[in-house]
Amino acid sequence: MDSVVTDADADEVLKGQIDYYRARATEYDDWFLRRGRYDHGEVATRNWFEQVGEVRAALEALPLDGAEVLELAPGTGIWTRELCARAKHVTAVDASPEMMELNRERLGVDAAKVSFIEADLFDWQPAETFDVVVFCFWISHIPRVRLDPFLAKVAAMLKPGGSVFFLDGRREPTSTATDHVLPVEREELMVRRLDDGREYTIVKNFWNARELEARCLRAGLDVTVSETDDYFQLGSVGDGSASRVAPSRFAGLEGTDFVRDIAVLYVEDCPNVSVVVGYLVDCDIDPRTVRMVLVGGGPIPSGFAGSPTVLIDGVNPIGISGDGFDVSCSLRMPTAEQLRVALGD
Ligand SMILES: C[S@@+](CC[C@H](N)C(=O)[O-])C[C@H]1O[C@@H](n2cnc3c(N)ncnc32)[C@H](O)[C@@H]1O
Repeated sequence: MDSVVTDADADEVLKGQIDYYRARATEYDDWFLRRGRYDHGEVATRNWFEQVGEVRAALEALPLDGAEVLELAPGTGIWTRELCARAKHVTAVDASPEMMELNRERLGVDAAKVSFIEADLFDWQPAETFDVVVFCFWISHIPRVRLDPFLAKVAAMLKPGGSVFFLDGRREPTSTATDHVLPVEREELMVRRLDDGREYTIVKNFWNARELEARCLRAGLDVTVSETDDYFQLGSVGDGSASRVAPSRFAGLEGTDFVRDIAVLYVEDCPNVSVVVGYLVDCDIDPRTVRMVLVGGGPIPSGFAGSPTVLIDGVNPIGISGDGFDVSCSLRMPTAEQLRVALGD
C-alpha cells in the first residue's frame, strides 16, 4: 500500500488501526510514562514531562467546570481523569473495549461520572450536543481525506458557544518507540510494533499548525494551534472563549491554498491532466487538495471548458465561462504562468 491513504483505502486502514489499539491497550501507558521501548534517556524524559506540564496548563484554561464534556478516543484515560475532576459529566467514545476497561480502572469512583460508549468515531453520531469536545492523540490518526468531515462533525457536536481542545504529537523521533520510524512529510502511514513483535500499519499525520487552524476554521471551529518545544501540538480556544466561529471569519481565509477549492475537470485519457497538475504543484499546491473531477457518462459539470479545465474557487483562470463545451480534449488549458497569477504565487 502507498503511504498516502485514499478514500478507497481508508476503511481498511482504519479497521487495522482499531485492531492495533485493542491489542496495545495493556502496554499503551508505557508510551506516556516513557517506559521500556519509549525510554529515550533522562534528558528526553525530563523534557517530555515538562512539556506535559505545559499541556496541563492549557487544559486548565478550558471552561470544564460543571460542563457536559465529550471525549473522543479517550484510550486508557490519561486525560479522562483530568476532565472528570472538573466536568459535570463526561461521555467517552472509543472503539476499543480493552482501552475503556483500563480507563474505568484508572478513574475508580470517578468512573460514575463517565458514560463509556464503544463505537467507531467515523460512524458515531451523538443524540445531544456538548459544552466541550476533547480529543487527545487522535487527530494524527485520521487520514487526510477524512479530516474535514471529522472536524465538521465535531463542530456540529458543540453547543453554541462550546469549546474544543485537542492535543497531539509533533514529528519528534524520541516521541515514539526506539524501534519505530516516523513517516516523513507527505507520508501518512507508519508501522507500529507491540512488545511481542506483532506489527500493524496505522495512520500518523503530523499537521502543519497553520493548515490545521485553517481546516478547523473552515469546519466552523475557531481554534489556535500551538506547539511545545519538541513534543506536542495543541489546539485550543486559548482564552477559553467560545470556539464556534461566525461565518464572517471565513473571509480571512481567502488566498490560503488548502482553503481554496481547486478543481481539475478532465476526460479519460486526456494527456494534459498530469501537465496541469504539475503546474499546480509548481505553484506549491498539494495535489491531494485538488479535486479531480472525471467528466463523461453524465451531465457536464458547470464550468467545464474542455479537458483539462482548472477552476479556482469556481473561476477559470483563462477567463472562459465554460458553457456549451463538449466532452473533449482542448488546448485551452491554462499555462503555468496563468495559474501562478491566479493563485497569487
Ligand atoms: C493514540 S490513542 C489516544 C488515547 C488517549 N486519548 C490518550 O491521549 O492517551 C488512540 C485511541 O483511539 C482509539 N481508536 C482508534 N480508532 C478508533 C476509531 N475508529 N473509533 C474510535 N476510537 C478509535 C483507540 O482505541 C485508542 O484508544
